[in-house]
Amino acid sequence: MACTAVLLLVSFALTVGPARGFSGGSMTFTPGNSYPDGLVEVHFYFRESSSGSCVSHPSWTCESVTCGDIIYAGPELTDEDRSAERLWCQSEVHMTANVSSNAPVILSNSGCCWEDNVHSAGEWSLQAHVDTGRRSDTQSPNRSPVSAAIPYIRIPQNCFQSLHLLAHDPDGDVVRCKSDTSSDHPNVNLDEDSCTLHRTGSLDVGLHVFELMLEDYPVSEITVTNSDGVSSVKDAFNLTVNSNPTALGQVPLQFAVEILAPVQSCVPGVDKPSFLTPTPIHGDVHHAAVGHTHEILLRAQSSGSSILDFQVSGPFNMSKTLRDEGHGVTVATLTWTPQERDLHRHVPVCFTAETLHSQSEMICIVVVVAKARVLTGEAEVICGSDSISIVVNKASMEGIDQNWLQLRDPTCSLASNDTHILGTMSLNTCGTTVEDSGDFMVFKNEINSFETPNAVITRRNQVKIGFSCQYPKLASVSSHYVNHKSDYIFTESSFGTFGYSFEVYTDNSFSSRVDPNQYPVEVKLMETLYMGVEAHSALPKVRLFIESCRATAEDNPYSAVYYDIIKDGCILDETVTVYPSDSMKYDFEIQAFKFTGRFDEVYISCSVILCAEGSPNSRCSQGCLSQTPSRRRRDLNQETARHYIIQGPLRVSRETQHAADASVNGGFVHISTSTGVFAGLFIITIIVLVGLLVYNAKKSRGLDRTHLLSSF
Ligand SMILES: *[C@@H]1O[C@H](CO)[C@@H](O)[C@H](O)[C@H]1NC(C)=O
Ligand SMILES: *[C@@H]1O[C@H](CO)[C@@H](O)[C@H](O)[C@H]1NC(C)=O
Ligand SMILES: *[C@@H]1O[C@H](CO)[C@@H](O)[C@H](O)[C@H]1NC(C)=O
Ligand SMILES: *[C@@H]1O[C@H](CO)[C@@H](O)[C@H](O)[C@H]1NC(C)=O
Repeated sequence: MACTAVLLLVSFALTVGPARGFSGGSMTFTPGNSYPDGLVEVHFYFRESSSGSCVSHPSWTCESVTCGDIIYAGPELTDEDRSAERLWCQSEVHMTANVSSNAPVILSNSGCCWEDNVHSAGEWSLQAHVDTGRRSDTQSPNRSPVSAAIPYIRIPQNCFQSLHLLAHDPDGDVVRCKSDTSSDHPNVNLDEDSCTLHRTGSLDVGLHVFELMLEDYPVSEITVTNSDGVSSVKDAFNLTVNSNPTALGQVPLQFAVEILAPVQSCVPGVDKPSFLTPTPIHGDVHHAAVGHTHEILLRAQSSGSSILDFQVSGPFNMSKTLRDEGHGVTVATLTWTPQERDLHRHVPVCFTAETLHSQSEMICIVVVVAKARVLTGEAEVICGSDSISIVVNKASMEGIDQNWLQLRDPTCSLASNDTHILGTMSLNTCGTTVEDSGDFMVFKNEINSFETPNAVITRRNQVKIGFSCQYPKLASVSSHYVNHKSDYIFTESSFGTFGYSFEVYTDNSFSSRVDPNQYPVEVKLMETLYMGVEAHSALPKVRLFIESCRATAEDNPYSAVYYDIIKDGCILDETVTVYPSDSMKYDFEIQAFKFTGRFDEVYISCSVILCAEGSPNSRCSQGCLSQTPSRRRRDLNQETARHYIIQGPLRVSRETQHAADASVNGGFVHISTSTGVFAGLFIITIIVLVGLLVYNAKKSRGLDRTHLLSSF
């Protein structure tokens, strides 16, 4: 039976002066040591925002079979408005207790009152639910979602579009945001999956309060076992199967948004500050080590009025220094030195840049604290014009098995020599993502450690080395794009770094490729098209195998509308002729066709494999398999993973339409390949994302050639 222990926290007044009101709070939870008697140490960090001076609210109630004494550290002031108005402040308190894992722990607090607000919300109340049973996947108690918000968000009425909240989960669970008081916000829609508020109508000027709960759900089925040995199964999150799943844990996120009177315009960088590189991007994960100072650089610009401060929601003892760089640019340096007790914490840090009358968008990141630098590795990143290379010193990653490392796309592993782990990828392979950081395009990937799916034990020392390359965005680039794809580059442990180029050629000598600036490639219906794939590898005895090629109407190999040209190593299209060449090349011709309907463009995507020469059991040796091949274990030393490469678009026209198409094509402007590739990739990535979103839901359908040639 659960008993209730009420614990009193003596009031800590941090600053002299009257408190004006509660303006939000967020809770993060981290499980600590487990003791043989079945007790688990739990750590809660609570950040509280107020206007005026910071005060703390005295009564947290813990419900559990046993909650023991709660040991409090703080609250300590973390940031406050230094202007005379004292509009905001935030403090953090750290609470530790030893609890039983036989029942969920509910920690709650309530008080009076919310700062005056448009919905007349009075009493506030906060609750966190955690279960300290052991998860089967991590062999540790569940870690709750992590979020925070700055103390005082203010947005002019006509500038509010959406607000992106942080929804990070240390276990990689699905995080959803639920609102208790959604009815109070008739003109705001909360997207529960992305934790984003979207405006759907006009909001009254004044303070709006938001009371959310962050919940986490496992990605795949797990069991949770408490200290009595009682297990319960938690199903994989899937709303189709279970529209009302039970969360593993719940933590509160409450904040206030002040809607200001409308302003003339909302241009970022002019009317309100906008962040510049190297400011982290919303959702970034940083790695810090105990005893080592971690630095976060924020850089913001506002040409309209000067930046006076940065509002920060961070851990206690994080310091902030400001520096004026001129031209309306101000830099803030946040420094924090994690202590031993911060080990394994995932600490949210949110910030905005402030001028007298405006505020930038809010950005939130997470700082993960590791034992020592070892886990983050000493990595060197080399940013090439079309590729990223990473070199990690093995000595800095003692105890980490390189065979358990992979890039974000699990088909990309890493190579190594005696001293270093090496990886090279192009900007469009291995799960590299692209983000827009304002003045730069940022390409990101990460090295992760992984587990075998049925591993009984989990190595606790997990590796996550994020890396990125950023390239300046040129003003002229955004309005044009280049379609031609540069080479594809991959790294795998047994094959090192290798690449593929995929080109359209002008004739059957396959020696002169169509100029990348000429894409989309104009071809006439039924005209012969020359295409070639070439593999590049430093290894002497490898061969290229084309397992499949298909035409798609979109820049996406998984597109729902497709036509198979080569499948399972067999040529299906009767107009294809393959030209003999060496083992690293595959040149072929095909008669041009187009998809019926409103599709003007054709992309060709192929899945390609490299094999060691003379490996009798490799996919390359099997050639054409007329039946769908049975599942076969891939020998990692004999063949690479299957990689998709795509080229296009081809714009196929009937002769009579050529003139019209040419005028469309005349809109393309020559830009240098290097910048063009970045802009092109950016657009391509968006196209692929949209394509995936749209077509994942639809059923795939293959076409036969007679359906492709449209009858005009
Ligand atoms: C929890 O128990 C351990 C071992 O008995 C003890 O060292 C620790 O101080 C306790 N923590 C709290 C918050 O009571
Ligand atoms: C959810 O379950 C349905 C029905 O079993 C399944 O078809 C679908 O793929 C699942 N979705 C995810 C994301 O696993
Ligand atoms: C706060 O930081 C300073 C310097 O970084 C350090 O000496 C001090 O011990 C820290 N205080 C706490 C309570 O962690
Ligand atoms: C391993 O590769 C790295 C990076 O290319 C190089 O600096 C290092 O000297 C190489 N080590 C050996 C033993 O070849």
